[in-house]
Amino acid sequence: MKQPSTEWREIIAPDEETRYKGYVEFFKQLQEKKSKQYGNGRTLHRKQLLALSAELEILGNLPDYAKHGLFAKAAKYNTWIRLSNGGMDKRPDKEPDIRGFTIKVLGLSGPGALGNNVTSQDFLLINREVFGLKSSEPFVQIVMAISRGPLALLGYFIRTHGFFGGLKAIGEAKASVARKFTGFASEKFYSAAPLSCGPYAMRVRIVPSSKPNVETTDDWAKEMSDRVKQGPITFDMQLQFFVDESTTPIEDASVNWEEANAPYVTVGKLTIPQQDTHSEAGKKLDTEVESVAFDPWNALVQHKPLGDVMRARKFVYLGSQQGRKAISI
Ligand code: HEM
Repeated sequence: MKQPSTEWREIIAPDEETRYKGYVEFFKQLQEKKSKQYGNGRTLHRKQLLALSAELEILGNLPDYAKHGLFAKAAKYNTWIRLSNGGMDKRPDKEPDIRGFTIKVLGLSGPGALGNNVTSQDFLLINREVFGLKSSEPFVQIVMAISRGPLALLGYFIRTHGFFGGLKAIGEAKASVARKFTGFASEKFYSAAPLSCGPYAMRVRIVPSSKPNVETTDDWAKEMSDRVKQGPITFDMQLQFFVDESTTPIEDASVNWEEANAPYVTVGKLTIPQQDTHSEAGKKLDTEVESVAFDPWNALVQHKPLGDVMRARKFVYLGSQQGRKAISI
């Protein structure tokens, strides 16, 4: 078994910041267009399903390679959770989509990844283990094509894969998003892209530990709201570490870090306690979470996001936050 390694490297293209600034311009126009339709909001993951308060307990006795930043010592933190559908539109939940599970760990203070001081640490997780595209560029091209309609999307895949390859690729992309979603209490959620853990590099996931019944619904907010009204839901927080560039690449986000090569280590317990999301406190939290910035770069310096996909997000998320006048905490 290969051991966690500090030999990871980022490869920074000389022109990439210019490219990322171009993404910001495109996302700005998209956000303005959609905000006219739905009101002020995020460019992607626009539909907030539910806001929840939770507690993250960091465990003691972790291996030395995990003991950095947030995971340096055993502690308990209040956290906020935002559950979302991934799309640029507010579509019914029954439509296939990527689902977001965003965690803001509160009550910290320390040097941040952007050279600032941070008072919270964010983890933006989705129900996909791997980003699936090599870099940010094809992702932005696909978002652009989706925003222009189904023909533009087909045109993009035909341009990049040839006619028959394009048809196959679009089918595969749709099938990947259409995979049945079993609910926020029963799925695993992943960072999909790497971040540092002190001198090491890692990916993060949460795994349900409360073994809920799996249900089918067209209203995931209600499903989760009903669950937490009845009792707590728990997850294990786990980290997986870079071992070498070929098996756990930093710059190629299309390659999954297989568990056989990079096993997960449980580092924390995330507990969503029993709560009433329709109470006055629940409604207040919903409004606050909608207006707050969640950003992979809102991170302790020990958890600096890594790789092209993450570096692009540094520019794009800030632009989207400015476009919706988000509050940073
Ligand atoms: C592994 C890769 C990625 C993951 C796991 C991810 C996940 C997420 C999640 C969970 C949210 C919702 C945040 C919230 O609840 O406030 C979000 C928002 C967003 N994502 Fe991503 N994303 C990824 C890559 C990207 C890329 C490559 C781009 C564009 C270049 C992008 C653009 C956005 C934008 C514009 C928002 C809205 C930001 C805001 O206004 O707060 N994402 N993403």
